[in-house]
Amino acid sequence: MRVFKSIGEWQAVRAGPDFSGRTVGFVPTMGALHAGHRALLARARAENDLVVLSIFVNPTQFNDPKDLNVYPRTLEADIALSEGLVDFVLTPPANELYVDDYHYRVTETDLSLRWEGAHRPGHFDGVLTVVLKLLNLVQANRAYFGEKDWQQLQLVRGMAQAFFLPVEIVTCSTERAADGLALSSRNARLSPVGRVQATAFSRILRESPSAAAAVPLLEAAGFGVDYVADHENIRLGAVRLEGVRLIDNVRL
Ligand code: PAF
Repeated sequence: MRVFKSIGEWQAVRAGPDFSGRTVGFVPTMGALHAGHRALLARARAENDLVVLSIFVNPTQFNDPKDLNVYPRTLEADIALSEGLVDFVLTPPANELYVDDYHYRVTETDLSLRWEGAHRPGHFDGVLTVVLKLLNLVQANRAYFGEKDWQQLQLVRGMAQAFFLPVEIVTCSTERAADGLALSSRNARLSPVGRVQATAFSRILRESPSAAAAVPLLEAAGFGVDYVADHENIRLGAVRLEGVRLIDNVRL
């Protein structure tokens, strides 16, 4: 596994013989890798000759600076977890990836304003912009995204179509703990009691007769509710517990 911090060095290798005639799978992440990321990497490994992992805590997608500051940074452990699954790791510094100071950005004007977007202004501009930069740098045949971030997945897919990006966006189903909680880097910030309480989130989303009915049930279970919404046979939700924001979605 080779780790690249410098974009220039990465680009020289990407253009060189290591990649010639070989298919490339790409998994973009913000690090703090868990079994959900491992599943994305394993699928990329199975479907491509080479696998590239990016680890970049993207400042432009954090509308809340506190959330950015407490986001876990665990590079050594991330590299250990991806051993055997990844050929190249890209961890560019922010000033190189945002050489333009974020004066250029991708804005979607419809889906990005709803649900997550309504609660996190500017979030999806940051996500789409960094994903476009990374896709251009990696030039993958396939890029892998988890269904837990359902809106992100739709928006990335839409951007790839809108701009004719030469990459296949691959959907990977949500990985869950045995008790149903969707795996997320944020789960690590819950106390043991909160972690048990959090189990109710996906259960209520799944079992509630309607999106509206889920809200008081979630509140009674101790969550602050940002939204619950039904859309195209999917129920999407975001809640807060112990200052940690959790999102999930279930098929209806
Ligand atoms: O899902 C994530 O971890 C991030 O939003 C992504 C796609 C890596 C962009 O920073």
